[in-house]
Amino acid sequence: MNNKIISDTEAWVMVQLKHESSGHDWEHIRRVTRQAQEIAAIEGGSMLIVTLASLLHDLIDDKVVADEIEGIQQVTNWLQKMDIDESDRQHILTIIKTISFKGGGQKPVESLEAQIVQDADRLDALGAIGVARTFMYAGNKGHQMYNPEFAHRDTMTVDEYRKIPSSAVGHFYEKLLRLKDLMNTKEGKKRAEKRHHFLEEFLQQFFHEWGERP
Ligand code: ADP
Ligand code: NI
Repeated sequence: MNNKIISDTEAWVMVQLKHESSGHDWEHIRRVTRQAQEIAAIEGGSMLIVTLASLLHDLIDDKVVADEIEGIQQVTNWLQKMDIDESDRQHILTIIKTISFKGGGQKPVESLEAQIVQDADRLDALGAIGVARTFMYAGNKGHQMYNPEFAHRDTMTVDEYRKIPSSAVGHFYEKLLRLKDLMNTKEGKKRAEKRHHFLEEFLQQFFHEWGERP
């Protein structure tokens, strides 16, 4: 029964993300779902909730749908169609609404299932895949891979810092290197440590080749 719900949802999500190019493609969803299932197998939690929330987690993002309200409505309709009961539906929607790390409004996630899906999503922003996604994103936006002014950020005023053009390497410092300390679960932390270490090695080599001290 659950297998049918999951495979139907996979097929639906794949169709929704067909034209997606902002880093929220189906392969990202597939990696996050697998990672979340692996963490849930160790940490516990409902496998159905973890799986559905992972599969649906990017469908209400305004980078994917025209507006979030419409995204929430579509996901709600889908879960109703799959006969997911009201409390599980609410739980899944709460997870996907709160896991995105957007600017300041960071609500701490509460349920174990929410913590697991958030950890899995963050892990996909780390490690080799994380590096690749960051450069893809920057390329898509027309950002530079690095701007040497960034090396002087520690001695700049806030206004000077804001004038540095966005870059892929800048994103490591703005977000990626902080994720390790934001992980929720023990298993998530363990996995993040390894991927974080890879980011540090990558940066070291990058600066070495660039001719700058890290
Ligand atoms: P998700 O919703 O999957 O958590 P995001 O929408 O925050 O991810 O970002 C998708 C991918 O693009 C991630 O790998 C992220 O690190 C990368 N990314 C997001 N913002 C930037 C940016 N300003 N510069 C470079 N990469 C970015
Ligand atoms: Ni995601």
